[in-house]
Amino acid sequence: MTIPDIVIAVDGYSSTGKSSFAKLMAKEFGFLYLDSGALYRAVTLFAQRENLIRKDNSVSASLRSALGTLKVDFDREGRTCIDSVVVENQIRTMSVSSQVSPIAALPYVREFVDRRLHEMASGGRVVMDGRDIGTTVFPNAGLKIFMTASMEVRAQRRFLELTAKGQSACIEEVKKNLQERDFIDSHRETSPLSRAADSFLLDNSNMTMEQEILWVKGVLQGKFLILD
Ligand code: CDP
Repeated sequence: MTIPDIVIAVDGYSSTGKSSFAKLMAKEFGFLYLDSGALYRAVTLFAQRENLIRKDNSVSASLRSALGTLKVDFDREGRTCIDSVVVENQIRTMSVSSQVSPIAALPYVREFVDRRLHEMASGGRVVMDGRDIGTTVFPNAGLKIFMTASMEVRAQRRFLELTAKGQSACIEEVKKNLQERDFIDSHRETSPLSRAADSFLLDNSNMTMEQEILWVKGVLQGKFLILD
């Protein structure tokens, strides 16, 4: 299937399978995949390492200037790196998950991440997932998808993901974290999580990844009148 040179924006709630779906689309269509959440997670890990998060979870104002020294990237395999060192596992822990949303609500952090995303996506033909890609980062994206799934399914998926990586997790704690992040993400002042009016809604509670790909191919065919 020949897809035009567009940005595909995938937004939605925490742990709705955005990144798995976005990665698969990128592979299927020969697009670059960019995980905006990974950049917010990397900023959070950086702030933790620099001791810029206080005991009460408030963030030191020094983070703003410290970000000038943060070199965050994706390697060829799409793994997140800080100073060229892979930190993919470290950014996916519950410790980072529990602090990422307040950090992602800071306007200067959002500016930092948005700038990096635009630099990395400059060539087009990109699938990007996050919370505000279709509304703020790429409001003119060629295709916008908004993902959702039931809380039970989302918590179960994230729990299995963490335990498969050998990280200890409790399903109730995972669920609480997803609910807290959804709340903070949807209620923050700067570019809150919200569904773009021109997005296609995908509830994948009962869908396989193959079904998701068939669904998006149908959407693309209809939208761009692709015949093959
Ligand atoms: O994978 P999961 O859905 O758990 O989250 P993620 O995509 O890794 O994003 C982690 C956190 O970063 C989210 O809970 C948001 O607080 C924040 N985020 C954001 O504010 N804006 C984005 N475009 C992407 C992530």
